[in-house]
Amino acid sequence: MDVFHSDTSAAGSPAATLAPVLEVSGLQTHFHTRAGVVKAVDGVDLHVRAGEILGLVGESGSGKSITGFSIMGLIDAPGRIAGGHIRYQGRDLTTLSDGAMRQLRGNEIAMIFQDPMMTLNPVLRIDTQMTETILAHEKVSAAAARDRARQALAMVGIPSPEERLMAYPHQLSGGMRQRVAIAIALLNHPKLIIADEPTTALDVTIQAQILYEVQKLCRETGTAMIWITHDLAVVSGLADRIAVMYAGRIVETGATADVIHAPRHPYTQGLIHSIPTRETHGQPLQQIPGMTPSLLNLPKGCAFRPRCDRATDQCLDVPVPSHPVPARTVRCWHAAA
Ligand SMILES: Nc1ncnc2c1ncn2[C@@H]1O[C@H](COP(=O)(O)OP(=O)(O)OP(=O)(O)O)[C@@H](O)[C@H]1O
Ligand SMILES: [Mg+2]
Repeated sequence: MDVFHSDTSAAGSPAATLAPVLEVSGLQTHFHTRAGVVKAVDGVDLHVRAGEILGLVGESGSGKSITGFSIMGLIDAPGRIAGGHIRYQGRDLTTLSDGAMRQLRGNEIAMIFQDPMMTLNPVLRIDTQMTETILAHEKVSAAAARDRARQALAMVGIPSPEERLMAYPHQLSGGMRQRVAIAIALLNHPKLIIADEPTTALDVTIQAQILYEVQKLCRETGTAMIWITHDLAVVSGLADRIAVMYAGRIVETGATADVIHAPRHPYTQGLIHSIPTRETHGQPLQQIPGMTPSLLNLPKGCAFRPRCDRATDQCLDVPVPSHPVPARTVRCWHAAA
């Protein structure tokens, strides 16, 4: 299987010409801990348009979830948004009241969490949770709501959905719970979905089915999606564009095929070369040398500098993102051509 197969590209698609649904600029989310200030997100720029899927990739601890939580308005003390803007359909979410943000979360923006129990209520039956979600936003009959709930379960590959509707969360397997949480996020046709590694724990056939449905949903209904994952194989088949995150910053963005086939940032190149492919079969896998830096004690300048074989003194200054050469940016003084 060619894990890098991708025939999707934002450039040239209708999505590429629309104004972004979400535009994040200079976002900084910091945690004030006893040990010091953890700069989990430190100057993130990204955008996503209607019907478009942006894959946000990066290794564990790079700040992907915190970026998602920040957009959703779910950062609590000791964390806070220390700078930047989050514009959703023109409104800056960083200035919205808690009440207005809560309403937006219920109606227009949904998150699928790494842990499905962030979505599910352990003491309510699945049918109650699903129909309440629908009825909170739409005036339809209880029977119609139940019908929609059943269809949503079938869409994420849940067998015997009628029976599952009667179950409590603890009566379902972990993978089944995650699929119910995904179905709930899709119920009210949100305009923006942030999905945080929701299929990582599922087996590949179920994962493939969910990715197919999600892609179809975005294409057909114009939902904008940010899909967070550390799995490049997943985003290469799913996303229109990719943003690569390292130590709280986006180091490279571009159309999926461009980033995968011609990565320009040394970190992206390292990530891609560390994935086994048909061509590298039987050879030792390449690894990025060194370790991810502590966010409490980031190296001066480019955070990737200590691991990078292209590093020079210039890298002691934080690299500025290159100008978008059609929708392509790289934060590196020595980016590959
Ligand atoms: N409440 C908190 N207090 C202090 N630091 C935090 C807090 N929450 C998150 N962080 C730090 O923020 C950084 C980014 O975390 P985040 O969860 O966004 O990583 P991630 O990219 O989603 O990783 P993973 O792939 O493992 O889910 C981590 O170093 C984490 O330790
Ligand atoms: Mg995470």
